[in-house]
Amino acid sequence: MKVLVTGGAGFIGSNFVRHLLLTRSDVEVINFDKLTYAGNPESLSDVAANPRYSFVRGDITDLRAVTDVFQKGLDAVINFAAETHVDRSIEDASPFLMTNIFGTHCLLNAARTFRLKHFIHISTDEVYGSAPAGASFTEETHLDPRSPYAASKASADHFVSACANTFGISAVILRCTNNYGPFQFPEKLIPLTIANAREDKELPIYGDGMQERDWLFVEDYCRAIALTLERAKPGAIYNVSAGLPQANLKIVRTILAYLGKPDSLIKYVKDRPGHDRRYALDSSKIRRELGWKPQVLFEEGIRRTIDWYIQNTAWLGHARSGEYLKYYERHYVRRAETFRG
Ligand code: NAD
Ligand code: TYD
Repeated sequence: MKVLVTGGAGFIGSNFVRHLLLTRSDVEVINFDKLTYAGNPESLSDVAANPRYSFVRGDITDLRAVTDVFQKGLDAVINFAAETHVDRSIEDASPFLMTNIFGTHCLLNAARTFRLKHFIHISTDEVYGSAPAGASFTEETHLDPRSPYAASKASADHFVSACANTFGISAVILRCTNNYGPFQFPEKLIPLTIANAREDKELPIYGDGMQERDWLFVEDYCRAIALTLERAKPGAIYNVSAGLPQANLKIVRTILAYLGKPDSLIKYVKDRPGHDRRYALDSSKIRRELGWKPQVLFEEGIRRTIDWYIQNTAWLGHARSGEYLKYYERHYVRRAETFRG
């Protein structure tokens, strides 16, 4: 089976590429990624030499590049590629519209032309908006995106469903809660807190810090995506979550305690405009229909995540400084030139 993973140099994508290569010996993976600030090919240096893995630097909004990669003969596409940071979408939503909506449209176009068998679209819990205390959203809940990021993801979901309906594209949508784990770019809450706390820098907490997120360890999500590829029926939508929403402040204090750093590093700052108070999903459908359940407790996952960042300071430095592009140059561009020559 030949699988195209878009955005495979990002956080969840890179974890998923590794998971698939290690667990499915019949699968060949093509990683198609633009390498924005968030995409780091170094995250897959351990599998780069695997004969079943290849990397193509490309943009999902570039129809020609998308067509070229589809011509390799694909059985499945898993679309992770996206602009993903809410704060950036508040600064400027344009790249979010381009990649998250137009990019998805380009992939759907190619899926239609090439009669693709499996299109898995990686969406987010944020399309449902903020969940009232005690409630959790099901797949039937109407979409109510409240940030420009969430609006671009909800729009893409509508295009996926509409193209499945209109053109018969065989598509599945996954909506997952916040992930955490190794290889996440240090602009998101957990890696930012670990990286800053290690250097005794201030930890910005938006508003009162009592907003809740339903954190899922990235390996658990990778297992859910792999099961979706194997077992999901076309047209299905699945929520994926651990089912344990926790306040931001609690997460930050847990990290500080593990690192032996003082709570005085916490700095309350102005709240994010339109900040969603609470995300919570009911994931009983994927548990029932595909037999998925999370296996990593938060206490274990957060320890593994912190330990990983402590042991991978070079990765962190390269991600922050833009040095990761030099890795791409050394390992892919020059090698390709050598092969051509
Ligand atoms: P990320 O920001 O870490 O990585 C995104 C990747 O997409 C990067 O490698 C980037 O280079 C690539 N990319 C961006 N624009 C591209 C383009 N035009 N063409 C090709 N590649 C492009 O993202 P992530 O956190 O791994 O999220 C992956 C997916 O999961 C996204 O669709 C996101 O909306 C969704 N999601 C993430 C979370 C989370 O907690 N991280 C939760 C729910 C859903
Ligand atoms: P983030 O990791 O950006 O994910 P998302 O906004 O997609 O949920 O943020 C997680 C939560 O942490 C969110 O409620 C915003 C908050 N947050 C802070 O309080 N301080 C920070 O520096 C960051 C990055 C996030």
